[in-house]
Amino acid sequence: MKKNVVAIDGPSGAGKSTIAKIIAKKLGYFYLNTGAMYRAVALYLHRKGEKPSDEITEKDLKGIELDFDDEGNIYLNGENVSDKIITPEISKLASDFSKLKVVRKFLTEQQRKIGLSRPSVLEGRDIGTVVFPDAKYKFFLDASPEERARRRYLQLKEKNPETKITFEEVLKQQLERDKQDSSRDLAPLKKAEDAIYIDTTGMEIEDVVEKILEFIKE
Ligand code: DC
Repeated sequence: MKKNVVAIDGPSGAGKSTIAKIIAKKLGYFYLNTGAMYRAVALYLHRKGEKPSDEITEKDLKGIELDFDDEGNIYLNGENVSDKIITPEISKLASDFSKLKVVRKFLTEQQRKIGLSRPSVLEGRDIGTVVFPDAKYKFFLDASPEERARRRYLQLKEKNPETKITFEEVLKQQLERDKQDSSRDLAPLKKAEDAIYIDTTGMEIEDVVEKILEFIKE
């Protein structure tokens, strides 16, 4: 039987988080940002001085406990790290650490557990392909690289008006990360064959939300 899960995958800046959060609220479902989980693990390992390498083992991940609240915040061992994990440095490290089998196994298991425990909207890169191939609804959100970088740039500026990062740097880092996330061996960023593809370039958030809800209501 299909799982009561809405899977929303796509590259960074395609609008996944904002849209998944609204959809979850409208449906009364739990919202899980799996990218934030990879970011929180990257922050934890980085703080421990670990580098993304095959030497990381299950033991290194033992001390990690992740929690969430209704606002979409993520807690790493009780600390709200939501703002600390969106820096360009952690973005890069999250992509690097997410290539490791041990990290993917650790988080995929938790994501399945959460998704099975209650109706949920999960957003990420491999939800419809690996975590919940039997999700009831699958969407793949995309947008042009420039638009995605512009959204990410505005988000970084809003969170930290002092930041010196330029739009060109954000675009360059994003293209590198997209390439790495799409070409890795394990669970690469890929549209599931049965996912509905939505190009959000130039679309208002409400219109994307409406489009997704129309499919779900059908
Ligand atoms: O969605 P995001 O940009 O916050 O994700 C951060 C990184 O985590 C992304 O570069 C790749 C990784 N990721 C992943 O490998 N699988 C997921 N389901 C979600 C994120």
